Amino acid sequence: MSPDGLALADGEIGWAGLARVPAYREVLDRGRRRWGRSTSARWPPAWTRSGTRAGPAVGPERPAERLGAGADPATLDLVPVLDVPALELLAGRPLVALTGAGLSTDSGIPDYRGPGSPRRTPMTFQEFLTGEPAQRRYWARSCVGWARMAHAAPNAGHRAIAELERAGVLRGLITQNVDGLHSAAGSRELIDLHGRIDTVACLRCERRSPRAELQERFTALNPGFVEAALGAAAPDGDAELEDTDGFRLAACAGCGGVLKPDVVFFGENVPRDRVARAYAMVDALAAPTGRVGGALLVAGSSLTVMSGLRFVRHAHRLDVPVVIVNRGTTRGDALATVRVDAGCSEFLPALAAAADPVSAAPG
Ligand SMILES: NC(=O)c1ccc[n+]([C@@H]2O[C@H](COP(=O)([O-])OP(=O)(O)OC[C@H]3O[C@@H](n4cnc5c(N)ncnc54)[C@H](O)[C@@H]3O)[C@@H](O)[C@H]2O)c1
Ligand SMILES: [Zn+2]
Repeated sequence: MSPDGLALADGEIGWAGLARVPAYREVLDRGRRRWGRSTSARWPPAWTRSGTRAGPAVGPERPAERLGAGADPATLDLVPVLDVPALELLAGRPLVALTGAGLSTDSGIPDYRGPGSPRRTPMTFQEFLTGEPAQRRYWARSCVGWARMAHAAPNAGHRAIAELERAGVLRGLITQNVDGLHSAAGSRELIDLHGRIDTVACLRCERRSPRAELQERFTALNPGFVEAALGAAAPDGDAELEDTDGFRLAACAGCGGVLKPDVVFFGENVPRDRVARAYAMVDALAAPTGRVGGALLVAGSSLTVMSGLRFVRHAHRLDVPVVIVNRGTTRGDALATVRVDAGCSEFLPALAAAADPVSAAPG
């Protein structure tokens, strides 16, 4: 692997496919003039090093958000964000994206493992099952977190991914995020691998209900609790609630069973059929004999969790090229064909603006 993280291992990747695509050619020509052949162009301005973590729950639109998907690539200076080797690889291929918490940091939702992220010890499934004290601890914190999360809106990265799908380039999306922002941005071929925080499931009768409804019940049962906790929250908005003994739980409205958010906790398995659907998305990227296949685009994930990493491993086994766009290293770096150290809100809109729907047509 070359020092800039590029491993052009297979000869099928290169100029040949790109030459057909005017938008890419224009961008790449400019890139080569400016950056040379083996650029690892990083996106340098200070404001892209996510300053939103310590900011308000929903940050103001930053300059990069003006790089709207669908803008004319010829009028945009895309090269600094569009890592040239990444473009070469992605052009002309159908894509499946695997996204993680890094995609939502610019919507004000902290990740787990980014630099400067508050240290987190998420409750395991086994601990949640130990009984009411653990469940009180979980739901009391969740009540405060939800009050913030409910105001988060999709950012330019989510919108660009939805745009790539509408353009026929992106064939599927596997997200490890539970925040629902991909759906809110309009993504449809979507697998919520770890579930959705806006839905609640009963552990006994499996009835699903909206989290917003439960929040109303919690608010009625614990008047003033959220306001008091928010008042005491640290400036980064991460409330550490020590005393949750007095928090009153709500049970399933149907059967009185224990309620749990409809997300996969650490220590819990992702439902098999969901995993199988995600593998099938990756399988569909494999190249038919003699043809160029698709690529797996990883965005905003440290790939620390095996639940996501396994799809990168699977793609690698199938000789499906993998492009990783992430600030900082990931556990999948050794398997990446190209690694781009850039912000999702910058890279993805630029990719969507440059992508040519025709170039990703099957065949
Ligand atoms: N928004 C959410 O739904 C959310 C938030 C936190 C954690 N989680 C859960 O926790 C697990 C975390 O694993 P993960 O790999 O998704 O996240 P992670 O926190 O392990 O890794 C996030 C990565 O994204 C990078 N990053 C942060 N902001 C970025 C940006 N704007 N552009 C590019 N890169 C950026 C970080 O440096 C880090 O390497 C997941 O399983 C997920 O279910 C979800
Ligand atoms: Zn029930």
